[in-house]
Amino acid sequence: MNQPFKETCLSANRTAAWLLLAALLFGCGKDPDPPRPAAADPGRVGFESYCAPCHQLEGSGTEGGAPPLAASPWVAGPDARLMRIVLHGVRGPMEIEGKIYNLEMPGFGPILTDAQIADLLSFVRRRFGGPSAPVTPASVGRIRAETRDHDTYWTVDELLGVR
Ligand code: HEC
Repeated sequence: MNQPFKETCLSANRTAAWLLLAALLFGCGKDPDPPRPAAADPGRVGFESYCAPCHQLEGSGTEGGAPPLAASPWVAGPDARLMRIVLHGVRGPMEIEGKIYNLEMPGFGPILTDAQIADLLSFVRRRFGGPSAPVTPASVGRIRAETRDHDTYWTVDELLGVR
């Protein structure tokens, strides 16, 4: 009694497996609009190109080099400080997770557009524990204009004065 049912069932399974295989083999190449890879996020691309060389892809920083971005109070703090750090760089003693860094980070204002800075900072905040609200190109433009005469690295004291 059970036998015919089992056979139908098995052959149905086999047919399904072939159909699936055929769909995999022939279907994929024909997808007119394949999903874009995650790397197409311009913020991620900017972070990987301009920040990760020093701060590392995982935001861990390096021994004797750049401090970590992951769980950094600067990433979690006001975006007006982050935008200044990226526009003009930052220098001098800075304590992150109990470690003192006394280094210099170059500014990227001259080589990155407002939109590029907004995108990469939005990514950095999302990725490394900052607020989820995106940083907008308009606010980068406003800070760039406000700090037009500032032509050197920021210090921690100056940045802490910014809300
Ligand atoms: C050439 C290496 C280098 C590059 C590239 C670089 N940084 Fe930095 N960054 C540093 C160093 C070094 C410091 C610490 C400076 C100090 O001691 O005051 C720092 C500090 C910071 C800080 C504050 C401290 C912390 O860890 O949170 C932030 C935020 C930051 N960088 C973000 C960025 C972002 C965003 C980019 C990409 C646009 C970037 N950095 C690119 C070297 C770099």
